[in-house]
Amino acid sequence: MRLYVNVDHIATVRQARGTDEPDPVRAAVLCELGGADGITVHLREDRRHIQDRDVRLLLETARTGVNLELAATSDVLALAEEWRPMQITLVPERRQEVTTEGGLSLGTEEARREIGAALQRLRGVGSRTSLFIDPDEDSVRFSAELGAQAVELHTGEYANARGAERAQQLARLTNAAALARAAGLAVHAGHGLTYENVTPVAAIAEIEELNIGHSIVSRAVLGGSERTTREMAEILRRART
Ligand code: PXP
Repeated sequence: MRLYVNVDHIATVRQARGTDEPDPVRAAVLCELGGADGITVHLREDRRHIQDRDVRLLLETARTGVNLELAATSDVLALAEEWRPMQITLVPERRQEVTTEGGLSLGTEEARREIGAALQRLRGVGSRTSLFIDPDEDSVRFSAELGAQAVELHTGEYANARGAERAQQLARLTNAAALARAAGLAVHAGHGLTYENVTPVAAIAEIEELNIGHSIVSRAVLGGSERTTREMAEILRRART
């Protein structure tokens, strides 16, 4: 099982101030030192968190693989063609959403044509291609037909479910993972996974990669607050001695 850490949320804090810290590229180095197998970033069309500069520097400095998440639109696809990251995950994108709300919808001919064309464009790039999909049979089948190399199963509904519904969502993920593997796809998963809910998903044998961001960054902020306050208090104390 590979852990890919999504550092978008570090960039969100930076963008809130429009300054140069915290830097997601520096955070990526620390994640790698902590054992991350790769770094995930989502270059959104509105550039609300990760910037082009972040991806460029990350590609130069990461010692592990970079998984670049993109919508299947021509301007970001052109950047992916130029940058050639180790992996590209196509995701749906809606401007108003707070975060990616669901998997790619592949139910219509038109949607499949659009994703198929994007995969075709990326074929020459040499990056591993993955589609972020809901854990259902049709989405897995369409992904295999379109020629993706991997799928990332959306775990958001599992993460939001409670009680008996959570067991149902876990069964859905387990089933989709088995179908995807049987169809020859590599199986990834992610979204909304936390220290509390990740264990049953990590136990699904077919899943070989998890993409986790918000929960890791949240714990870093809380876990670091005591030490960093002490460091600032020490500077204030020293200023008068
Ligand atoms: N996978 C995809 C496709 C995502 O869009 C995101 C969120 O950016 C993640 C994984 C990570 O989700 P989270 O931040 O909730 O761990």
